[in-house]
Amino acid sequence: MLGKEVMKTAQMFKHGIAACALMMACAIAPAYAQQGVPTSGATADRDHMSYGADADRVADEIKGFNDFAGGGQKYVEISAQDEVAQMGAGINVIPGWNGFWNGGSTQFKLSQIRKIKEAGFSTIRIPLQTFGKSAMHIDAQGHLDPKYLKKLDSIVEAALSAKLFVIIDEHDFDDCSKNADACAQILPNVWYELSEHYKNAPSSVMFELLNEPHDKIDAAIWNAWLPDLVAIVRQTNPTRNIIVGPTHWNSSADLPLLKLPDDKHIIVTFHYYDPMTFTHQGADWVGPEIAKEHGEVHWKGTPEELAKINGDFDKVADWAKANNRPILLGEYGTYAKFSAIDERAAWTRAVTKAAADRGFAHAAWEFDEGPTGFTVYDSDKNEWVEPIKNAFLGK
Ligand code: BGC
Repeated sequence: MLGKEVMKTAQMFKHGIAACALMMACAIAPAYAQQGVPTSGATADRDHMSYGADADRVADEIKGFNDFAGGGQKYVEISAQDEVAQMGAGINVIPGWNGFWNGGSTQFKLSQIRKIKEAGFSTIRIPLQTFGKSAMHIDAQGHLDPKYLKKLDSIVEAALSAKLFVIIDEHDFDDCSKNADACAQILPNVWYELSEHYKNAPSSVMFELLNEPHDKIDAAIWNAWLPDLVAIVRQTNPTRNIIVGPTHWNSSADLPLLKLPDDKHIIVTFHYYDPMTFTHQGADWVGPEIAKEHGEVHWKGTPEELAKINGDFDKVADWAKANNRPILLGEYGTYAKFSAIDERAAWTRAVTKAAADRGFAHAAWEFDEGPTGFTVYDSDKNEWVEPIKNAFLGK
Protein backbone atom coordinates (compact mmCIF):
# COMPACT_ATOMS: atom_id res chain seq x y z
CA MET A 1 0.00 0.00 0.00
CA LEU A 2 2.56 2.53 1.22
CA GLY A 3 5.00 1.29 -1.41
CA LYS A 4 2.58 2.33 -4.12
CA GLU A 5 2.05 5.70 -2.51
CA VAL A 6 5.76 6.23 -2.32
CA MET A 7 6.25 5.34 -5.96
CA LYS A 8 3.52 7.76 -6.83
CA THR A 9 5.31 10.47 -4.91
CA ALA A 10 8.57 9.64 -6.61
CA GLN A 11 6.89 10.06 -9.98
CA MET A 12 5.43 13.39 -8.92
CA PHE A 13 8.73 14.49 -7.55
CA LYS A 14 10.39 13.53 -10.79
CA HIS A 15 7.98 14.99 -13.27
CA GLY A 16 6.05 17.47 -11.20
CA ILE A 17 3.25 19.30 -12.89
CA ALA A 18 4.00 22.06 -15.34
CA ALA A 19 2.64 24.90 -13.23
CA CYS A 20 4.76 23.82 -10.30
CA ALA A 21 7.95 23.63 -12.31
CA LEU A 22 10.46 21.92 -10.02
CA MET A 23 8.37 21.80 -6.93
CA MET A 24 6.56 18.51 -6.56
CA ALA A 25 5.30 19.62 -3.17
CA CYS A 26 2.69 21.85 -4.72
CA ALA A 27 1.28 18.83 -6.51
CA ILE A 28 0.80 16.83 -3.34
CA ALA A 29 0.43 19.58 -0.75
CA PRO A 30 -3.38 19.44 -0.47
CA ALA A 31 -3.37 15.81 0.66
CA TYR A 32 -0.88 16.57 3.41
CA ALA A 33 -2.53 19.80 4.40
CA GLN A 34 -5.59 17.74 5.32
CA GLN A 35 -3.42 15.57 7.52
CA GLY A 36 -1.91 18.54 9.32
CA VAL A 37 1.55 18.04 7.85
CA PRO A 38 3.28 21.35 7.05
CA THR A 39 2.81 22.15 3.42
CA SER A 40 4.83 24.10 0.96
CA GLY A 41 3.89 27.65 0.18
CA ALA A 42 6.75 27.97 -2.24
CA THR A 43 6.81 27.65 -5.96
CA ALA A 44 9.90 27.34 -8.08
CA ASP A 45 10.52 31.04 -8.28
CA ARG A 46 11.03 32.97 -5.05
CA ASP A 47 10.03 36.23 -6.72
CA HIS A 48 6.60 34.89 -7.55
CA MET A 49 5.73 33.07 -4.38
CA SER A 50 2.38 33.43 -2.79
CA TYR A 51 1.93 32.91 0.91
CA GLY A 52 -1.61 34.17 1.29
CA ALA A 53 -2.25 35.89 4.60
CA ASP A 54 1.26 35.28 5.76
CA ALA A 55 2.93 36.94 2.80
CA ASP A 56 4.21 40.04 4.58
CA ARG A 57 5.52 38.26 7.62
CA VAL A 58 7.29 35.65 5.54
CA ALA A 59 8.73 38.24 3.18
CA ASP A 60 10.16 40.13 6.16
CA GLU A 61 11.65 37.00 7.61
CA ILE A 62 13.24 36.06 4.35
CA LYS A 63 14.61 39.56 3.85
CA GLY A 64 16.04 39.59 7.36
CA PHE A 65 17.71 36.24 6.99
CA ASN A 66 18.66 36.36 3.40
CA ASP A 67 21.98 37.98 3.73
CA PHE A 68 24.35 35.55 5.34
CA ALA A 69 27.57 37.49 5.03
CA GLY A 70 29.84 34.46 4.84
CA GLY A 71 32.35 35.44 7.49
CA GLY A 72 33.60 38.17 5.19
CA GLN A 73 34.58 35.64 2.53
CA LYS A 74 33.35 35.79 -1.05
CA TYR A 75 32.00 32.88 -3.07
CA VAL A 76 34.59 31.61 -5.56
CA GLU A 77 33.74 28.55 -7.63
CA ILE A 78 35.83 25.48 -6.87
CA SER A 79 35.60 22.08 -8.55
CA ALA A 80 34.26 19.16 -6.52
CA GLN A 81 37.62 17.43 -6.98
CA ASP A 82 39.67 20.39 -5.70
CA GLU A 83 37.39 20.90 -2.72
CA VAL A 84 37.64 17.25 -1.65
CA ALA A 85 41.42 17.44 -2.01
CA GLN A 86 41.44 20.31 0.50
CA MET A 87 38.86 18.99 2.98
CA GLY A 88 41.19 16.41 4.53
CA ALA A 89 40.14 15.26 8.00
CA GLY A 90 36.74 16.38 9.24
CA ILE A 91 34.48 15.85 12.20
CA ASN A 92 30.72 15.73 12.74
CA VAL A 93 29.50 18.27 15.30
CA ILE A 94 26.30 19.12 17.23
CA PRO A 95 23.82 16.73 15.62
CA GLY A 96 20.16 17.77 15.49
CA TRP A 97 19.27 16.11 18.77
CA ASN A 98 21.87 18.13 20.72
CA GLY A 99 20.19 20.51 23.20
CA PHE A 100 21.97 23.39 21.46
CA TRP A 101 19.30 23.37 18.74
CA ASN A 102 16.26 22.86 20.91
CA GLY A 103 16.86 25.03 23.94
CA GLY A 104 17.87 22.02 26.06
CA SER A 105 21.06 21.52 28.00
CA THR A 106 24.23 21.21 25.99
CA GLN A 107 27.95 20.93 26.56
CA PHE A 108 28.66 22.50 23.19
CA LYS A 109 30.45 25.84 23.16
CA LEU A 110 31.19 27.96 20.12
CA SER A 111 34.82 28.15 21.24
CA GLN A 112 35.09 24.41 20.53
CA ILE A 113 34.91 25.12 16.80
CA ARG A 114 38.31 26.82 16.97
CA LYS A 115 39.67 23.91 19.04
CA ILE A 116 38.65 21.60 16.21
CA LYS A 117 40.76 23.61 13.78
CA GLU A 118 43.67 23.88 16.20
CA ALA A 119 43.65 20.10 16.69
CA GLY A 120 44.24 19.65 12.95
CA PHE A 121 40.79 19.05 11.48
CA SER A 122 39.87 20.97 8.31
CA THR A 123 36.15 20.31 7.97
CA ILE A 124 33.03 20.14 10.12
CA ARG A 125 29.82 18.36 9.14
CA ILE A 126 26.68 19.65 10.86
CA PRO A 127 23.87 17.04 10.94
CA LEU A 128 20.69 19.12 11.00
CA GLN A 129 17.27 17.86 11.99
CA THR A 130 15.04 20.59 10.65
CA PHE A 131 11.80 18.64 10.83
CA GLY A 132 12.71 15.36 12.49
CA LYS A 133 11.88 13.63 15.69
CA SER A 134 13.83 15.94 18.01
CA ALA A 135 12.11 19.19 17.04
CA MET A 136 10.21 20.93 14.29
CA HIS A 137 12.12 23.96 13.05
CA ILE A 138 9.88 24.52 10.04
CA ASP A 139 6.53 26.26 10.16
CA ALA A 140 3.21 25.48 8.53
CA GLN A 141 4.24 27.42 5.41
CA GLY A 142 7.38 25.37 5.09
CA HIS A 143 9.77 28.04 6.37
CA LEU A 144 12.69 27.51 8.68
CA ASP A 145 12.49 29.24 12.04
CA PRO A 146 14.66 32.40 11.85
CA LYS A 147 15.92 31.75 15.39
CA TYR A 148 17.05 28.32 14.34
CA LEU A 149 18.81 29.76 11.28
CA LYS A 150 20.56 32.25 13.55
CA LYS A 151 21.95 29.38 15.61
CA LEU A 152 23.15 27.67 12.48
CA ASP A 153 24.68 30.94 11.28
CA SER A 154 26.64 31.23 14.52
CA ILE A 155 28.25 27.83 13.89
CA VAL A 156 28.90 28.50 10.21
CA GLU A 157 30.43 31.90 11.01
CA ALA A 158 32.67 30.44 13.73
CA ALA A 159 33.78 27.70 11.34
CA LEU A 160 34.50 30.11 8.51
CA SER A 161 36.47 32.43 10.72
CA ALA A 162 38.50 29.39 11.82
CA LYS A 163 39.02 28.56 8.09
CA LEU A 164 37.15 25.28 8.30
CA PHE A 165 35.14 23.75 5.48
CA VAL A 166 31.48 23.33 6.48
CA ILE A 167 29.01 20.65 5.41
CA ILE A 168 25.38 21.50 6.08
CA ASP A 169 23.91 18.01 6.25
CA GLU A 170 20.15 17.36 6.31
CA HIS A 171 19.95 14.51 8.82
CA ASP A 172 16.23 13.72 9.04
CA PHE A 173 17.01 10.37 7.50
CA ASP A 174 15.02 8.20 9.92
CA ASP A 175 11.79 10.13 9.53
CA CYS A 176 12.29 10.37 5.79
CA SER A 177 13.00 6.69 5.42
CA LYS A 178 9.85 5.79 7.36
CA ASN A 179 7.59 8.07 5.35
CA ALA A 180 9.00 9.03 1.98
CA ASP A 181 5.79 10.77 0.92
CA ALA A 182 5.93 13.23 3.82
CA CYS A 183 9.66 13.68 3.32
CA ALA A 184 9.19 14.39 -0.37
CA GLN A 185 7.09 17.30 0.66
CA ILE A 186 9.13 18.85 3.44
CA LEU A 187 12.69 18.22 2.29
CA PRO A 188 12.44 20.41 -0.84
CA ASN A 189 11.20 23.29 1.35
CA VAL A 190 14.18 22.91 3.59
CA TRP A 191 16.52 23.07 0.62
CA TYR A 192 14.75 26.09 -0.83
CA GLU A 193 15.30 27.83 2.48
CA LEU A 194 18.87 26.74 3.18
CA SER A 195 19.96 27.40 -0.41
CA GLU A 196 18.45 30.85 -0.42
CA HIS A 197 19.89 31.68 2.96
CA TYR A 198 23.44 30.53 2.26
CA LYS A 199 23.66 31.54 -1.39
CA ASN A 200 26.31 34.17 -0.61
CA ALA A 201 28.37 31.93 1.64
CA PRO A 202 31.85 31.06 0.39
CA SER A 203 32.29 27.80 -1.50
CA SER A 204 33.79 26.20 1.59
CA VAL A 205 30.15 25.80 2.70
CA MET A 206 28.66 22.70 1.08
CA PHE A 207 25.18 21.17 1.14
CA GLU A 208 24.50 17.48 1.82
CA LEU A 209 20.99 16.71 0.63
CA LEU A 210 20.04 13.86 3.00
CA ASN A 211 22.01 11.63 5.35
CA GLU A 212 21.68 7.85 4.93
CA PRO A 213 18.51 7.35 2.87
CA HIS A 214 17.18 3.83 3.49
CA ASP A 215 14.04 1.72 3.90
CA LYS A 216 11.20 3.50 2.03
CA ILE A 217 13.75 5.62 0.18
CA ASP A 218 15.09 2.96 -2.11
CA ALA A 219 17.32 3.59 -5.10
CA ALA A 220 14.39 4.14 -7.49
CA ILE A 221 12.92 6.84 -5.28
CA TRP A 222 16.23 8.43 -4.34
CA ASN A 223 17.33 8.59 -7.97
CA ALA A 224 13.98 10.13 -8.88
CA TRP A 225 14.29 12.81 -6.20
CA LEU A 226 17.89 13.81 -6.86
CA PRO A 227 17.45 15.86 -10.05
CA ASP A 228 14.72 17.93 -8.40
CA LEU A 229 16.59 18.49 -5.15
CA VAL A 230 19.72 19.46 -7.06
CA ALA A 231 17.68 21.77 -9.30
CA ILE A 232 16.22 23.50 -6.23
CA VAL A 233 19.70 24.22 -4.90
CA ARG A 234 20.92 25.26 -8.35
CA GLN A 235 18.34 28.05 -8.59
CA THR A 236 20.28 30.05 -6.03
CA ASN A 237 23.63 28.24 -5.91
CA PRO A 238 24.58 27.46 -9.51
CA THR A 239 28.02 26.01 -8.76
CA ARG A 240 28.19 25.24 -5.02
CA ASN A 241 29.37 21.71 -4.35
CA ILE A 242 26.54 19.42 -3.26
CA ILE A 243 27.09 16.14 -1.40
CA VAL A 244 25.05 13.06 -2.25
CA GLY A 245 25.35 9.49 -1.04
CA PRO A 246 23.85 6.15 -2.05
CA THR A 247 20.91 4.37 -0.42
CA HIS A 248 21.02 1.73 2.31
CA TRP A 249 22.46 4.14 4.89
CA ASN A 250 25.03 5.56 2.45
CA SER A 251 26.42 2.10 1.92
CA SER A 252 29.24 1.84 -0.62
CA ALA A 253 27.60 -1.39 -1.84
CA ASP A 254 24.77 0.76 -3.25
CA LEU A 255 27.07 3.08 -5.23
CA PRO A 256 26.36 1.20 -8.48
CA LEU A 257 22.63 1.97 -7.98
CA LEU A 258 23.16 5.71 -7.63
CA LYS A 259 22.11 7.74 -10.67
CA LEU A 260 23.42 11.27 -10.40
CA PRO A 261 22.21 14.30 -12.32
CA ASP A 262 24.55 15.58 -15.01
CA ASP A 263 26.14 18.20 -12.73
CA LYS A 264 29.88 18.42 -12.19
CA HIS A 265 29.59 20.06 -8.76
CA ILE A 266 28.65 16.91 -6.90
CA ILE A 267 30.74 15.15 -4.24
CA VAL A 268 29.74 11.56 -3.51
CA THR A 269 29.69 10.37 0.08
CA PHE A 270 29.56 7.01 1.83
CA HIS A 271 29.71 5.87 5.48
CA TYR A 272 31.86 3.08 6.85
CA TYR A 273 31.25 1.18 10.10
CA ASP A 274 32.33 -2.33 9.12
CA PRO A 275 32.28 -4.66 10.94
CA MET A 276 29.17 -3.31 12.68
CA THR A 277 29.52 -5.93 15.42
CA PHE A 278 32.77 -4.23 16.42
CA THR A 279 32.11 -0.55 15.71
CA HIS A 280 28.61 -0.61 17.23
CA GLN A 281 29.23 -3.21 19.92
CA GLY A 282 26.42 -2.87 22.52
CA ALA A 283 24.59 -0.15 20.56
CA ASP A 284 20.88 -0.79 20.95
CA TRP A 285 19.68 1.24 17.94
CA VAL A 286 21.15 -1.11 15.37
CA GLY A 287 19.40 -4.39 16.22
CA PRO A 288 19.62 -7.21 18.76
CA GLU A 289 22.60 -9.00 17.20
CA ILE A 290 24.80 -5.98 17.73
CA ALA A 291 23.22 -4.81 20.99
CA LYS A 292 23.99 -8.15 22.62
CA GLU A 293 27.76 -7.76 22.08
CA HIS A 294 29.39 -6.50 25.25
CA GLY A 295 33.09 -6.59 24.59
CA GLU A 296 33.37 -10.01 22.97
CA VAL A 297 34.07 -8.64 19.49
CA HIS A 298 37.62 -7.49 18.84
CA TRP A 299 39.50 -5.78 16.04
CA LYS A 300 43.22 -6.44 16.06
CA GLY A 301 44.33 -5.14 12.68
CA THR A 302 45.15 -8.60 11.31
CA PRO A 303 46.12 -8.86 7.62
CA GLU A 304 42.62 -10.22 6.89
CA GLU A 305 40.93 -7.35 8.72
CA LEU A 306 43.07 -4.78 6.91
CA ALA A 307 42.50 -6.51 3.56
CA LYS A 308 38.75 -6.27 4.10
CA ILE A 309 38.91 -2.50 4.63
CA ASN A 310 41.27 -2.00 1.69
CA GLY A 311 39.12 -4.19 -0.56
CA ASP A 312 35.99 -2.21 0.34
CA PHE A 313 37.78 1.09 -0.26
CA ASP A 314 39.27 -0.12 -3.56
CA LYS A 315 35.75 -0.75 -4.83
CA VAL A 316 34.75 2.81 -3.92
CA ALA A 317 37.88 4.18 -5.61
CA ASP A 318 37.11 2.14 -8.76
CA TRP A 319 33.57 3.48 -8.82
CA ALA A 320 34.83 7.04 -8.27
CA LYS A 321 37.26 6.72 -11.16
CA ALA A 322 34.73 5.16 -13.53
CA ASN A 323 32.17 7.85 -12.69
CA ASN A 324 34.59 10.76 -12.34
CA ARG A 325 33.33 11.77 -8.89
CA PRO A 326 35.39 12.76 -5.82
CA ILE A 327 34.61 10.98 -2.56
CA LEU A 328 33.87 12.00 1.02
CA LEU A 329 33.76 9.35 3.73
CA GLY A 330 31.22 11.36 5.71
CA GLU A 331 30.99 9.18 8.84
CA TYR A 332 33.07 6.48 10.48
CA GLY A 333 33.87 5.68 14.08
CA THR A 334 33.44 3.30 16.98
CA TYR A 335 31.05 3.19 19.93
CA ALA A 336 32.98 3.42 23.19
CA LYS A 337 30.75 1.53 25.61
CA PHE A 338 32.35 -1.92 25.45
CA SER A 339 35.32 -1.81 23.06
CA ALA A 340 38.93 -1.33 24.16
CA ILE A 341 40.29 2.09 23.27
CA ASP A 342 43.44 0.72 21.62
CA GLU A 343 41.37 -1.50 19.31
CA ARG A 344 39.06 1.41 18.50
CA ALA A 345 42.04 3.62 17.71
CA ALA A 346 43.60 0.90 15.53
CA TRP A 347 40.40 0.44 13.50
CA THR A 348 40.01 4.22 13.16
CA ARG A 349 43.62 4.66 12.05
CA ALA A 350 43.26 1.90 9.44
CA VAL A 351 40.09 3.44 8.00
CA THR A 352 41.58 6.96 8.00
CA LYS A 353 44.57 5.62 6.08
CA ALA A 354 42.41 3.70 3.62
CA ALA A 355 40.49 6.91 2.89
CA ALA A 356 43.50 9.24 2.74
CA ASP A 357 45.51 6.84 0.55
CA ARG A 358 42.75 6.99 -2.06
CA GLY A 359 42.27 10.75 -1.92
CA PHE A 360 38.94 10.62 -0.06
CA ALA A 361 38.08 13.37 2.40
CA HIS A 362 36.91 11.83 5.70
CA ALA A 363 34.86 12.90 8.72
CA ALA A 364 34.75 11.41 12.21
CA TRP A 365 31.51 10.42 13.89
CA GLU A 366 31.37 12.44 16.18
CA PHE A 367 32.68 15.27 18.34
CA ASP A 368 31.03 14.61 21.71
CA GLU A 369 28.30 12.22 22.75
CA GLY A 370 29.37 11.50 26.30
CA PRO A 371 31.65 8.85 27.79
CA THR A 372 30.03 5.78 26.20
CA GLY A 373 29.41 7.22 22.73
CA PHE A 374 31.49 7.78 19.61
CA THR A 375 33.05 10.77 21.39
CA VAL A 376 36.28 12.34 20.12
CA TYR A 377 36.25 15.32 22.52
CA ASP A 378 35.37 14.92 26.20
CA SER A 379 33.50 18.08 27.23
CA ASP A 380 33.39 17.01 30.90
CA LYS A 381 37.17 17.07 31.06
CA ASN A 382 37.58 19.72 28.36
CA GLU A 383 40.05 17.59 26.48
CA TRP A 384 40.35 15.44 23.40
CA VAL A 385 40.18 11.67 23.64
CA GLU A 386 43.76 11.70 22.34
CA PRO A 387 44.15 8.19 20.84
CA ILE A 388 40.84 8.49 18.98
CA LYS A 389 41.42 12.07 17.82
CA ASN A 390 44.91 11.20 16.60
CA ALA A 391 43.62 8.16 14.72
CA PHE A 392 41.05 10.32 12.92
CA LEU A 393 43.88 12.68 11.98
CA GLY A 394 45.95 9.79 10.62
CA LYS A 395 48.51 9.98 13.40
C1 BGC B 1 23.32 8.54 13.17
C2 BGC B 1 23.68 8.42 14.63
C3 BGC B 1 24.46 7.17 14.87
C4 BGC B 1 25.62 7.08 13.91
C5 BGC B 1 26.33 5.78 14.08
C6 BGC B 1 24.55 8.47 12.37
O1 BGC B 1 24.24 8.67 11.02
O2 BGC B 1 22.67 9.75 12.96
O3 BGC B 1 22.52 8.42 15.41
O4 BGC B 1 24.98 7.18 16.18
O5 BGC B 1 25.18 7.22 12.59
O6 BGC B 1 25.42 4.72 14.03
